[in-house]
Amino acid sequence: MKQDRTASSNLTWHHHGVGRSDREELLGHRGATVWLTGLSGSGKSTIADILSEMLHERGVLTAILDGDNIRHGLNIDLGFSPEDRKENIRRIAEVAKLFSSFGVLNILAFISPYREDRDFARSIQGEGDFLEVFVEVPLEVAEERDPKGLYRKARRGEIPSFTGISAPYEEPVSPEVILRTAEFSPEECAMKIIGALEGRGIIKGV
Ligand code: ADX
Repeated sequence: MKQDRTASSNLTWHHHGVGRSDREELLGHRGATVWLTGLSGSGKSTIADILSEMLHERGVLTAILDGDNIRHGLNIDLGFSPEDRKENIRRIAEVAKLFSSFGVLNILAFISPYREDRDFARSIQGEGDFLEVFVEVPLEVAEERDPKGLYRKARRGEIPSFTGISAPYEEPVSPEVILRTAEFSPEECAMKIIGALEGRGIIKGV
């Protein structure tokens, strides 16, 4: 799929009086995107939840965008072919970009198995505002956890193109953060992300 999907030339960009920096000043932190990528069962959603709770406690406005949930609505028309996964990521990357411009700290939890698609998300977000977080777990551990019973189904051939079994997962090359969820608790992982956000001046330290 081409990245330039402009379907009309008769468009005008409107600049609004209240801008991103005004909203960020109001909120006391920057808008940014924490992009959790990893296998199904790696711990993305659990970490997203805990991180959101910790940030909320500190007065940070967060939004969680989670693959399973977003596929119930906005992306209900998409499956798991490479093309559909690309469109899944393209749409939520655009949503995250919009939310960031409103000053929101986005926490995204999508397998997002293709490097090219994650790079696209980064490219539209802006370097300093995008943290790629690799939620790393050995496939055997994810399969052992199997919280939704999907690996068992995939092994029985009941789910085609299942990531890690019959579809690829391309590991990040230079993510901002790596979380080894077989070795560290979800709380420790969330704290590591908070440290990275503080280090970049996206949120204030306490
Ligand atoms: S992504 O690859 O397009 O980024 P996304 O994160 O939105 O995936 O959705 C993944 C979730 O969909 C998994 O956690 C799992 O619950 C469910 N799922 C259903 N079919 C598949 C499949 N073939 N591969 C991976 N996940 C699947």
